[in-house]
Amino acid sequence: MKKVYENVYEMEHPLIQHKITMLRDRRTGTNEFRKIVEEIGMLMGFEALADLPLEEVEIETPIEKCMSPVIAGRKLAIVPILRAGLGMVSGILALTPTAKVGHIGMYRDEVTHEPHEYYCKLPNPIEERTIVVTDPMLATGGSAVDAVTQIKEHGGKKIKFLSIIAAPEGVKRLHEAHPDVEVYIGHIDRCLNDAAYICPGLGDAGDRIFGTK
Ligand code: PRP
Ligand code: URA
Repeated sequence: MKKVYENVYEMEHPLIQHKITMLRDRRTGTNEFRKIVEEIGMLMGFEALADLPLEEVEIETPIEKCMSPVIAGRKLAIVPILRAGLGMVSGILALTPTAKVGHIGMYRDEVTHEPHEYYCKLPNPIEERTIVVTDPMLATGGSAVDAVTQIKEHGGKKIKFLSIIAAPEGVKRLHEAHPDVEVYIGHIDRCLNDAAYICPGLGDAGDRIFGTK
């Protein structure tokens, strides 16, 4: 992984880069797109959770008893930003099936590009949990900043933000607003266009995952 800022990392894994290229391709249909978002969610989750704490437990192999590590506690929460963040959840849940799942609903105003929150339901209590926030797109950064603020207002402390494609503007804005949050990005693209879409990007992630227009 490449360090972009303190706590901000861009993925360099070839499998992630390959799958992002498939997502970008306008010919990739909904079914395949959804599957690839899930796979990237798993690969990014694998990297982002490399610091999960372990504890030793005693087990008995067919040969003898031994001490061996397991993930300590059951203290993980996955929080997708609706809608598109939902696409990454099943990939991470495949790695951590006992994680709780919260939801934050945000939509961007098409004209102002400002985020509006319409739903928030988080695991309670959330203070002790490592919280993995998912959203495939980090564009202006408005949705990400507001979602993290909301999670902190509910008591969230250890937050990791996973995004598949980001614009440099959004990465900077999220980092400056929440420097304590670990941010993992599949690829940082060139810029935003006048409609605040990421260039070259992949288009509208929510529409491509759910087959809407
Ligand atoms: C998209 C995307 C992010 C947001 C990014 O969601 O999934 O949540 O835009 O843009 P920003 O960084 O400029 O805030 P959208 O508002 O289109 O909602 P949807 O997922 O329901 O389609
Ligand atoms: N949201 C998307 O889905 N795509 C973008 O490029 C920007 C915001």
